Amino acid sequence: MGRLVIVSNRVPASGRVPDAGGLAVGLNEALRGNVLWFGWSGETGGQSQAEPERNTYGTVEYATLDLSTEEYNRFYVGFSNGSLWPLFHFRIGLMEFRREHLEGYLAVNRRFAMALAPLLRPDDIVWVHDYHFMTFADELRRLGVRNRIGFFLHTPFVPASVFAALPRGEHLLEAMCGYDVIGFQTEPDRLGFLDCLHQLLGVEVGDGRRIFRDGRTITLLASPIGIDPDKFAQDARRTARSQEARRLRESLVGRGLILGVERLDYSKGLPQRFEGFRRLLSRFPDHRQKVSYLQIAARSRQDVNQYRALRRELDQLAGNINGRFAEFDWVPLRYMTRSLSRTTLAGFHRIARVGLVTPLRDGMNLVAKEYVAAQDPADPGVLVLSRFAGAARELDAALLVNPFDPDEIAESLHLALTMPADERVARHATLLDRVRSVTAQTWCRRMLDALQDVPNVAEQPLAVDVVP
Ligand code: G6P
Repeated sequence: MGRLVIVSNRVPASGRVPDAGGLAVGLNEALRGNVLWFGWSGETGGQSQAEPERNTYGTVEYATLDLSTEEYNRFYVGFSNGSLWPLFHFRIGLMEFRREHLEGYLAVNRRFAMALAPLLRPDDIVWVHDYHFMTFADELRRLGVRNRIGFFLHTPFVPASVFAALPRGEHLLEAMCGYDVIGFQTEPDRLGFLDCLHQLLGVEVGDGRRIFRDGRTITLLASPIGIDPDKFAQDARRTARSQEARRLRESLVGRGLILGVERLDYSKGLPQRFEGFRRLLSRFPDHRQKVSYLQIAARSRQDVNQYRALRRELDQLAGNINGRFAEFDWVPLRYMTRSLSRTTLAGFHRIARVGLVTPLRDGMNLVAKEYVAAQDPADPGVLVLSRFAGAARELDAALLVNPFDPDEIAESLHLALTMPADERVARHATLLDRVRSVTAQTWCRRMLDALQDVPNVAEQPLAVDVVP
């Protein structure tokens, strides 16, 4: 078998600090084989190089390219995170489309494809990740690459009525047909993509599992990403005794902890969540001084306008809540924008009585799964989860809420904080079963199996044109 070639914008090691979270966790098993991981180095500025920098750690070779300042502004800030991210999270009002950003996006996909193509061997399987690289396979195909190429979208996908707002969106859809396998987190995402192909490109979608385009077959699947629950549970048990966890526990002085953990992103519904907590304290005053809400919202994408605006808004909301409810010995809302390591957080999840995960839209949301895995099954906390997170389809034994309704968040928090132990245990057992049945490993296998099933044209001899 050939190598697995992973392509993603963020490359965990980036030749430097190994990252314990994100995609590396999902791909953990695959990373034990012979792998080439290709993407952005995380460095910006300078001249764009034609050849990637290469480093090997264990069985994984990392090949990375820097982005020039202009590429960073157009490809990463402008089009990927200023247009595609809001679009795929159903926030077309936040899109800041510029034609030069789209051009920069296409150009980076082309440049990266040109840098990867010479490194590919005929039996390599290429697996591309996320919205930064929708046109990547098409660029590789133009360079004559005939390998099996798969794509997995980690965000949601939208139906045609929403996608149509993206200028030249049809071009992206066409280019996505260069992939052999396209994976989505959930069925609605897959159906949204089919709707776009049908309505915007006039493609006959048939049974929707396979589509035929320009003599090629493209397999579509919905395959939710998971975690390694047993490993995470083990980390949680261990780090619940860490020094950080001890400090957190002592600071609570017996109060219940509500915990939220995410990147500081407008898709996460943080203003509505803060308002939900404010309403908990005003409508259910019994909880005053008895709970503390810790929100960790790690700073993210601060070069994108909407993220800076959100940060200002949250600073203000947090100040208002504490100004209104705090006592000299009780700060109701602890809000921090620094990030903590995933293993430290595992211990924090185990301490929390409530895991509060209320994105307005989310591809999957692995924090919800991590919260479940981290609990003590004999005395678990309660997960309050948005019905618009991909994870809600599997985790329907959580308290599901509409994240746009702060009153519903407040009511669910109240229910969670007062839930009898037997109900907590029963709900958690159901949730844990689900988290255990769809793991990082099953997700990775399904996608790779689908790619293995694609006939490998690259290994077949080229048809020779006989000139009479
Ligand atoms: C989401 C995206 C990933 C992205 C991550 C962090 O999870 O699906 O592709 O890497 O956010 O965002 P950043 O812009 O810092 O890479």
